[in-house]
Amino acid sequence: MRHSPESSRVAPAEIDPFQAIGISGLAHALEAQGRSVIHMEFGQPSTGAPRAAIARAHAVLDADPMGYWESPALRARLARHYLEAYGVAVEPERFILTCGASPALLLALASSFSPGDRVALARPGYVAYRNTLKALHMVPVEIPCGEAARYQLTAQALAALDPAPDGVIIASPANPTGTIIAADELAAIVEVCRARGVRIISDEIYHGLSYVAPARSVLEFEPSALVINSFSKYFSMVGWRLGWLLVPRAHLRRARAYVGNLFLTPPSLSQHAALAALDAQEELQGHVAVYRRNRERLLTALPALGLTAIAPPDGAFYIYASVAHLTNDSLTFCKTMLEETGVAAAPGVDFDPVEGHHFIRFSFAVGTDLVEEALARLTPWFAKRTLIASPSAIAG
Ligand SMILES: Cc1ncc(COP(=O)(O)O)c(C=O)c1O
Repeated sequence: MRHSPESSRVAPAEIDPFQAIGISGLAHALEAQGRSVIHMEFGQPSTGAPRAAIARAHAVLDADPMGYWESPALRARLARHYLEAYGVAVEPERFILTCGASPALLLALASSFSPGDRVALARPGYVAYRNTLKALHMVPVEIPCGEAARYQLTAQALAALDPAPDGVIIASPANPTGTIIAADELAAIVEVCRARGVRIISDEIYHGLSYVAPARSVLEFEPSALVINSFSKYFSMVGWRLGWLLVPRAHLRRARAYVGNLFLTPPSLSQHAALAALDAQEELQGHVAVYRRNRERLLTALPALGLTAIAPPDGAFYIYASVAHLTNDSLTFCKTMLEETGVAAAPGVDFDPVEGHHFIRFSFAVGTDLVEEALARLTPWFAKRTLIASPSAIAG
């Protein structure tokens, strides 16, 4: 924690910007000049909300006064979802509806930890984990997770932390890699956390988007974990700003006090629509089929561009690829690639301040036609890059 020199007051934390937002700004500026841009910089489905969700929103718009509201029907439906998807019984009151996973993360951290507390997380990892912890004057303890660990936390790495952290954020499937923690490893992580008194926050925002086996919820192993989720990804409702935090009963009173003061309730319209979205499985599975195709296409095509060191994307909709043979500056690399090809990707520095200058992340939550177009533009562009190191040395 930083103290300003003139007093003992704690100065606001300095946190890094989310660089992909800058890339997106540049992408939109280029579009405004008439350039064609393929947006692969944000993890955002291009599909919009399910048809039934939009129909429901139209139907309630004239009828509902849209006051402060947390839908009991939506909480009950989410509880049914946990029973069906994970075999876990959860009381509906334990769901706190939020404006997406972002406030759920803030709420989980602020209500669980104190300034100065140490919270472990994987590096690479989602940019907001590190920065939200810092904003709250908590201490991110980044565990470097390389290729051997499939870029994921392991029980062994958590057990080796000395002293034990106060908490851990786990994310499976993860952003930026899409890797999933296997069930036995998740059980082992829970065991280590139980033995060492480490509180678990599990970000399950990419559940529903898996291409190998379905991701398991931490609640199958640890009923007292806090779980974050959202309608932004699988449900394709980013701009509706709706998510949830699922808390153990013992934490409910405090979390409710926090949400009542910090955020009140999420938009009523979104809650009505989300209830319908939960039953739009056929349409949503159609999106997953597109992502599956896109993933396969990219996994086949990117190595031909020289991108051979790719994290295995078990889920989510990302490819995190090393460009260490081409650059030491992933941010400039992404800007140049965007300016010269019109393909926008996120720089690895957002996810990993140490190694991320050697990585870029493509989101494949776009139509397959756009993936093909991106590959057509990138193929000649990558062919003209000058090697600064051997790709095989990096891939090995
Ligand atoms: C891992 C992860 N958690 C949380 C979020 C925030 O999502 P939301 O739109 O629900 O706030 C994102 C967004 O990309 C994410 O990738």
